[in-house]
Amino acid sequence: MAQISIRNINKVFDGGVVAVKDITIGIENKEFLVLLGPSGCGKSTTLRMVAGLENPTSGDIYIGDRWVNNVPAKDRNIAMVFQNYALYPHMKVYDNMAFALKLRGYAKTDIEKRVNEAAQILGITRLLNRKPKELSGGERQRVALGRAIVRKPLVFLFDEPLSNLDAKMRVQMRTELHKLHLKIQTTMIYVTHDQTEAMTLGDRIAVMKDGELLQLDTPLTVYNNPVNKFVAGFIGSPPMNFMEGRIIKKNGSIYFDEGNFKVKVLEEMHAKLVSYINKQVIFGVRAENIYDKLFAAGATPENTILVLCEVVETMGPQNHLYLSTGKHTAVALVDSSNKPTIGSMVEVVIDMKKVHFFDPASEKTIV
Ligand SMILES: Nc1ncnc2c1ncn2[C@@H]1O[C@H](COP(=O)(O)OP(=O)(O)O)[C@@H](O)[C@H]1O
Ligand SMILES: [Mg+2]
Repeated sequence: MAQISIRNINKVFDGGVVAVKDITIGIENKEFLVLLGPSGCGKSTTLRMVAGLENPTSGDIYIGDRWVNNVPAKDRNIAMVFQNYALYPHMKVYDNMAFALKLRGYAKTDIEKRVNEAAQILGITRLLNRKPKELSGGERQRVALGRAIVRKPLVFLFDEPLSNLDAKMRVQMRTELHKLHLKIQTTMIYVTHDQTEAMTLGDRIAVMKDGELLQLDTPLTVYNNPVNKFVAGFIGSPPMNFMEGRIIKKNGSIYFDEGNFKVKVLEEMHAKLVSYINKQVIFGVRAENIYDKLFAAGATPENTILVLCEVVETMGPQNHLYLSTGKHTAVALVDSSNKPTIGSMVEVVIDMKKVHFFDPASEKTIV
């Protein structure tokens, strides 16, 4: 049982680099929390402070009810898995997994039991007598996980553990990790820059940028209600389309006017947008919320725009349409049967229920 509480932690490295700024995150017992953000935003530093590999410049860290700022890493009862899993090359898989337990003076029978149990959970029993060089990347990563599991820690910390694997293996190991979490029900903190990993694995996602925590919520809330333009653009693939334009009022209705097209804003969004009438905003719409009019229901002149189809990418089940309004480009994610001619003008329908508006100065979400 371990909840983790990170309270107002800051980290300033020698030389003045501010890596983490006043981050507070409460992680529940058994939760899978993902720290997500671009390279250099302070994810690893945050994780390393929980692990005890770095000291916070200020702030407090609790594991369970225990204040651990002063507790050395080896006494925190955590296990960490890195991108570079660094197995001992001269040791067999069994000994790699048993090593930490031997160091801690566990009895031989207990070690055997734990290693075999972990090997079974990870499906690597048949590999126990091999050396790391006789394993594939995915198998090595499983052994690295096994090494962590045998210790039955209170908390698992992962720092981009799948980054060294090829794309296919990454997806497979992602699912394995998911199953592992369901099986062993231990609190996990997982660092990644990959939004797909974050969306698929996290009970909640903490989105970071420049050392700050921008948003902490469930994957779907972060996806559907991003707090600002950065989060909106970072989560989702293809990324959200952004277009600059103005909010205008005409005959009691509110429109977003891009210059080359106008779309009518739904009434439920009016209250938040009235103070932006005749002002610049950033309009955001996700690729899956743009439809070819031929295939769309509910098209009206006020949600339909005429665009140039510049490129069609065939994905298999779906197509990416690269569109131009003349001022902005946008991507639409549509059904594979939906394949307009490249270079032709197409009418596309925007699902106005799903659009967002951002303040151009603060980049915060207006609605
Ligand atoms: N030991 C260190 N000394 C000085 N600066 C560091 C050190 N470790 C990391 N940093 C800096 O702190 C910032 C955050 O780094 P890091 O936590 O590794 O980011 P992330 O894991 O999100 O890529 C970066 O600007 C990085 O260069
Ligand atoms: Mg890192």
